[in-house]
Amino acid sequence: MSVLAKHTQGKGGPDKIFRISGMAKARAAEVGKENIINATTGAFLDANGQLITMKTVEEAVKLIPFRDSAEYASIEGTPGFVQAAIDGAFREYRPNACIGGVATPGGTGGLHHAIYNYLEPGDTVISMDRYWAAYKSICRECGRSFDTFVSFDENNNFNVQGCIEKLREYAEKQTNVFMILNTPANNPTGYNVKQNEWEAIMAELTAIANNGRNNVVLLLDVAYIDYAAPEARAFFSLFNNLPENFILLVAYTMSKSYAMYGYRLGCLLCVSSSQQEVDDFIAINKFSSRATWSNCSRLGMHVMEKIDQTPELKAAFRAEQEELRLSLLKRAEVFVKEAQEVGLKTCPFDSGFFVTVPTVKAEEVAAELRKSDIFMVPLGDGANAGIRVALCALPEEKIVGIAAKIKEALDIVGE
Ligand SMILES: Cc1ncc(COP(=O)(O)O)c(C=O)c1O
Repeated sequence: MSVLAKHTQGKGGPDKIFRISGMAKARAAEVGKENIINATTGAFLDANGQLITMKTVEEAVKLIPFRDSAEYASIEGTPGFVQAAIDGAFREYRPNACIGGVATPGGTGGLHHAIYNYLEPGDTVISMDRYWAAYKSICRECGRSFDTFVSFDENNNFNVQGCIEKLREYAEKQTNVFMILNTPANNPTGYNVKQNEWEAIMAELTAIANNGRNNVVLLLDVAYIDYAAPEARAFFSLFNNLPENFILLVAYTMSKSYAMYGYRLGCLLCVSSSQQEVDDFIAINKFSSRATWSNCSRLGMHVMEKIDQTPELKAAFRAEQEELRLSLLKRAEVFVKEAQEVGLKTCPFDSGFFVTVPTVKAEEVAAELRKSDIFMVPLGDGANAGIRVALCALPEEKIVGIAAKIKEALDIVGE
């Protein structure tokens, strides 16, 4: 009998992404990495398969005295860092509301605190059925449940109606209606929820908040926001005058926005029409940080602050972000165009690291592709199954022809 506590039963097991990327690495060791296509990695890589880092960020790191970065950080994060996170998340689309933030280790830490502190044990988090797998793991870890609505309808449009129905269902079952949306540049689809879709969702969430029974917590995961066009932030104006019992939480992270994946720094932001709600958010999440990871990367905070407060550096940083966004978009354009040419159906794509090819036979298609030394991650099972193509991990020349290969594999396996 295991010594582990009973509540740990069912946790663990192999991680699909690491399993397939392990296969790709093993094959690369045999035949050379230039002879395989490894579209499994969720990081932005250059033509040599090296991590793309940002010159302006590296410059900022060098400006921070070592002794200073080696010191403990404040638990909630320095005010300058929180300001930088607010500016990074919203830019010129900052909602006209009370806003506060708490440092977290990446977006992951923010998701954890939000799920833990805004739901009762056993309550359910709602999200799209094409979601980042960690959401479900965090719910499991925190003793919360996880439920989804079908992301896209039969015409490949965002399923606003399905989303609304799911919100109504949980408004009947629990006090706090809690939804995570990972947009813009969704992982794994690359979808950006559009303004008219946002308006419909917000009308429903506001009606729920005003029904006299429920509160609303909308958790926006903006991990890839800087890979969407800056104006994809326009929907933030919808959060200007929220009812007091409706809060917006935004999980912002340095990982992709600063290409600082390993530094483990993010900021969970709270947007509310009530300063009291923001103060409570800071007090409670600060406590949770103390009780879990304590404080986060001080170097990361200093880097964000330094860039935010040095106008020339900030301008160069924003220009570099834009350069990265456009180079990623170019990769996507090659894939999307070829997919259309060969008649390969994908989930609707706007921007970001990944494209998803929906197929209920995702495992079989991924296995078929591996016969040609093409490695991609099969996700989901049943209606939400698909192949995730990590465009971020492939240079343009390796993307050419991939859509045709996937189509071929689908034809062999039979959809
Ligand atoms: C959808 C999504 N949200 C959040 C994250 C958070 O990453 P991190 O904890 O490194 O900020 C990731 C990372 O892969 C992600 O894909």
